[in-house]
Amino acid sequence: MLHSGFNFLLCVVAILCINLLCVESFYPSKCVETERQALLKFKDALIHSKVNLTSWKGEECCKWEGISCHNLTGYVTSLNLKPFDYTKAVGGKLDYSICELQHLISLNLDNIGLEGKIPKCIGSLGKLIELKLMYNNFFGVIPPSLGNLSNLQTLDLSHNYLTANDLEWLSHLSDLRYLDLSEVNLTLAIDWLSSISKIHTLSELHLFGCGLHQVTPKSISYMNTSISLKSLDLGENSLNSSILPWVSNVGKVLITLDLSFNQFKGSKPLFEITKLASLQHLDLSHNELSGSFPHTIGQLSYLQELFLSSNKFNSVIIETHLSNLSHLRILDVAHNSLSFNLSLDSVPPFKLFALYASSCTLGPKFPVWLKHHGELRVLDISSSGISDSFPKWFWNLSSSLIYLNVSYNKLNGPLPKSIPNMKFSILENSSTINSDRHLSCS
Ligand SMILES: *[C@@H]1O[C@H](CO)[C@@H](O)[C@H](O)[C@H]1NC(C)=O
Ligand SMILES: *[C@@H]1O[C@H](CO)[C@@H](O)[C@H](O)[C@H]1NC(C)=O
Ligand SMILES: *[C@@H]1O[C@H](CO)[C@@H](O)[C@H](O)[C@H]1NC(C)=O
Ligand SMILES: *[C@@H]1O[C@H](CO)[C@@H](O)[C@H](O)[C@H]1NC(C)=O
Ligand SMILES: *[C@@H]1O[C@H](CO)[C@@H](O)[C@H](O)[C@H]1NC(C)=O
Ligand SMILES: *[C@@H]1O[C@H](CO)[C@@H](O)[C@H](O)[C@H]1NC(C)=O
Ligand SMILES: *[C@@H]1O[C@H](CO)[C@@H](O)[C@H](O)[C@H]1NC(C)=O
Ligand SMILES: *[C@@H]1O[C@H](CO)[C@@H](O)[C@H](O)[C@H]1NC(C)=O
Ligand SMILES: *[C@@H]1O[C@H](CO)[C@@H](O)[C@H](O)[C@H]1NC(C)=O
Ligand SMILES: *[C@@H]1O[C@H](CO)[C@@H](O)[C@H](O)[C@H]1NC(C)=O
Ligand SMILES: *[C@@H]1O[C@H](CO)[C@@H](O)[C@H](O)[C@H]1NC(C)=O
Repeated sequence: MLHSGFNFLLCVVAILCINLLCVESFYPSKCVETERQALLKFKDALIHSKVNLTSWKGEECCKWEGISCHNLTGYVTSLNLKPFDYTKAVGGKLDYSICELQHLISLNLDNIGLEGKIPKCIGSLGKLIELKLMYNNFFGVIPPSLGNLSNLQTLDLSHNYLTANDLEWLSHLSDLRYLDLSEVNLTLAIDWLSSISKIHTLSELHLFGCGLHQVTPKSISYMNTSISLKSLDLGENSLNSSILPWVSNVGKVLITLDLSFNQFKGSKPLFEITKLASLQHLDLSHNELSGSFPHTIGQLSYLQELFLSSNKFNSVIIETHLSNLSHLRILDVAHNSLSFNLSLDSVPPFKLFALYASSCTLGPKFPVWLKHHGELRVLDISSSGISDSFPKWFWNLSSSLIYLNVSYNKLNGPLPKSIPNMKFSILENSSTINSDRHLSCS
């Protein structure tokens, strides 16, 4: 009994194996005919777009470029088209036939020159995990039917001409991790913050240039979110510090924060943000931040990139500000009323890759502390009140530079014959003695 049972089992296993092998050997010719027809219709509508679909012919649609099928059923699971050139081209349409591909898991049509509206029926592709339509010319309202894509983890509709009058539909995407709606017009979407706060799985949020509705302190206090973002981009909106309690709430493990080109004023915003201790990249440039540079900046001990240019900071940067920032690589404080008072021979705990300090005060002596930044690639100390000669060590430093701008200072002294890697240098209006030779583009 036991023996015959075992034989039976063997038999079943063998049949299963043969079946699998058969299926496998048919693959990838096993294209579902209705899907092939749908793909051909989809292709016809792409006629003027930027994709090359010369391989889209014959019966074996699973072999066509950009298509992947399920290895057993033959259903199309992924459509991922790449443009053949990246110049702006227009003319392709996203045909409704795409919605017949009901087994799609990934639809990626970035930057292929599509225009027109996003078909509502995309909301019926319930297996989608990834939907990416960025850098096309789609216009009109984002269909709220996308709220039915309950398996979606990645949604990128950025850089089109889209609008959304509300974002209620977004709050249904309960598995969403990555959301990019940059340049979608959200001026009417007064619910943006409350809707997004409901997507508990969200980890990366990009809403750059969306005309975001200003939040009132009251509406924030009603918000109750357990979101924990790693990356947040709210650049180029009209936000003020009323958003900060929300940012602090969702930003406990934040790594990248971009609040550039907004309306943050005063010294409080940067002070608040220095409590987000895991930040590595912080951009607060082009706001109206003022006052002194907070001492608490040292709490951001993982910081690698700090962009604070074009604000109204008005103070002195001293050693203790920077002494904890051992990972700092890019420091951009240009166009502020900041001066540097770093002692001449203290070795900083970091080595800068880029320093943008145009219009700050570094002079009148040539900033000796730069000596320790032997890996500098970019140095802009134009218009920084230096009235000195180039120190000899500077030309040691300069071997790594690819960009140097020391214009609008009073710099004297000999110049080296060449700086090996330099792509661009500007010595304009920096007088030089012993040499009337100016470095130039090479
Ligand atoms: C399209 O692809 C085919 C081969 O796949 C190639 O021969 C042809 O040059 C490509 N056309 C363009 C415009 O890239
Ligand atoms: C089919 O694909 C799945 C993943 O999608 C893979 O794990 C499996 O090994 C594949 N089966 C065959 C027979 O190729
Ligand atoms: C989601 O799907 C249901 C049923 O398929 C439909 O009735 C509803 O209108 C859809 N929701 C949206 C927002 O389109
Ligand atoms: C965004 O939409 C609003 C309301 O429809 C409109 O007034 C505004 O001009 C739009 N903004 C842009 C940049 O298109
Ligand atoms: C931010 O803007 C909102 C709406 O304009 C306003 O109610 C609020 O007082 C502003 N907050 C700050 C701190 O300026
Ligand atoms: C906030 O969330 C907590 C736990 O998730 C819940 O107990 C509380 O009622 C919520 N408060 C509001 C105002 O929604
Ligand atoms: C320096 O960073 C550590 C964590 O790495 C932190 O505990 C300490 O408070 C920071 N010091 C200053 C002066 O901010
Ligand atoms: C720079 O700091 C030193 C002490 O560290 C101080 O004596 C000096 O006055 C400061 N210079 C300026 C211009 O603030
Ligand atoms: C160099 O700096 C000056 C003064 O800040 C600026 O006007 C100029 O555009 C800069 N040059 C380049 C090539 O970046
Ligand atoms: C320049 O670098 C060389 C070798 O790295 C070193 O020997 C020399 O002392 C440096 N010169 C100056 C002026 O720092
Ligand atoms: C060079 O700088 C001087 C003052 O430092 C200024 O008067 C002059 O206009 C500047 N020249 C140019 C070409 O900007």
